[in-house]
Amino acid sequence: MTYTKTGLCLLLGVILQSSCTNKDNSYQLIDIELVSLLKAQSPSGNLSYFELPSSTDLNKIPQDPKNTLTTSKIALGGFLFHETTLGTEGKEPALKQTYSCATCHHYDAGFQSGTLQGYGDGGTGFGVNGELRVIKSNISNPDVQSLRTLSVLNGAFQTNQMWNGQFGSTHVNANTKSLWTETSILKYNNLGFEGLETRSIAGLEMHRMKMTDDIIKMGAYKNLFDDAFQNIPENIRYTNETAGLAIAAYLRTITASEAPFQKYVQGNIDAMNESEKQGAIVFFGKGQCSSCHTGPALNSMQFNALGMNDMIDKMILLIWDGVALQKIHLTIINLKYPNCTTLQTVHFMATDRASGLLKKSLNIKIWPYRKIKIF
Ligand code: HEC
Ligand code: HEC
Repeated sequence: MTYTKTGLCLLLGVILQSSCTNKDNSYQLIDIELVSLLKAQSPSGNLSYFELPSSTDLNKIPQDPKNTLTTSKIALGGFLFHETTLGTEGKEPALKQTYSCATCHHYDAGFQSGTLQGYGDGGTGFGVNGELRVIKSNISNPDVQSLRTLSVLNGAFQTNQMWNGQFGSTHVNANTKSLWTETSILKYNNLGFEGLETRSIAGLEMHRMKMTDDIIKMGAYKNLFDDAFQNIPENIRYTNETAGLAIAAYLRTITASEAPFQKYVQGNIDAMNESEKQGAIVFFGKGQCSSCHTGPALNSMQFNALGMNDMIDKMILLIWDGVALQKIHLTIINLKYPNCTTLQTVHFMATDRASGLLKKSLNIKIWPYRKIKIF
């Protein structure tokens, strides 16, 4: 597509009171198209709908009313997110304190892991962006998830967290209380926090991390907790819950507010080059990407079951609910994924109800999945 159509340019040149003889002509046409697409998709008709607040503009960052942002809480959370001392157990004793949240979510890799899967305790090496991290030899049970590590970037704009949205007691999970049983990690939803807070508190337990006296004995941490949580009685001030709340406060401040697109919507139309603008026009136009990816974080709280082709040779996810269960036959897998020859490469995800039935009929590992659409 080209934006140097002389006739149109002349017409618009008059409207914009600008000259059609320099390079800016094509530039202005493309901007008119992009800005009008953006405005049409903004409920206020205004580009500010797409603006992300900067990390320090706390009043503009969406927050959990039960965990309001303060600079001391954010500072504490930033340290804890990178603190290996929290890793009190490790999958094996030798792995104690060799990892932190940031091992799988580090900023050079856009707060993801830099590998197809993130390796926590049990991984070794790092590279520049985490790309050289591998499983240590002789470790049989490393901390590695079957799903790609999600970025924590712009998490403040997500009320519920994880690929399946399971964490956060509000919004899309408001009616899922029956799943928050004491034996499930979802029990942390009973604390009543939003997704980032709940995930951070639960994440500490899931990755064998714990606030201990040893950490408080490091005087600096005691001071940071005292500053951040002065209203919480001392006997419950230094816990995984307060640590999780501080981490969530820190994560809320991680926004991509310096991205070229952000500068563009703030009025600096030189911040994106022509091909980036063309991409944006496809994204917000014909590509219809913005039907799912919109707002400041270009996301939404819909949960869709997608193909995840980036892991196609490593693992295949098949997602079923109770209705589709009757249709399950292993030949279906062969038809749909001819390259998949062994059952080991197939992972099933299923709703709670379906997974019970599946486990009985096929002797394979089932991963829980809550909101399902058949694809
Ligand atoms: C072993 C690697 C690993 C470690 C260590 C780890 N995470 Fe994650 N994190 C993941 C993976 C994988 C996902 C996606 C899993 C899923 O959706 O089921 C994830 C998802 C998240 C999300 C959800 C993001 C979103 O967009 O929904 C948040 C928030 C998060 N982690 C925070 C943390 C915190 C806080 C810690 C430390 C307490 C931590 N993570 C430690 C691998 C890791
Ligand atoms: C039907 C809804 C839908 C449409 C339409 C859609 N996406 Fe997505 N997209 C998703 C979902 C769901 C995810 C998974 C993201 C998650 O859970 O964090 C995703 C993930 C992504 C990611 C990876 C994000 C990450 O955190 O790694 C990119 C990039 C992306 N989409 C780009 C696009 C583009 C480009 C288009 C248009 C061509 C598009 N999407 C259209 C729903 C959609």
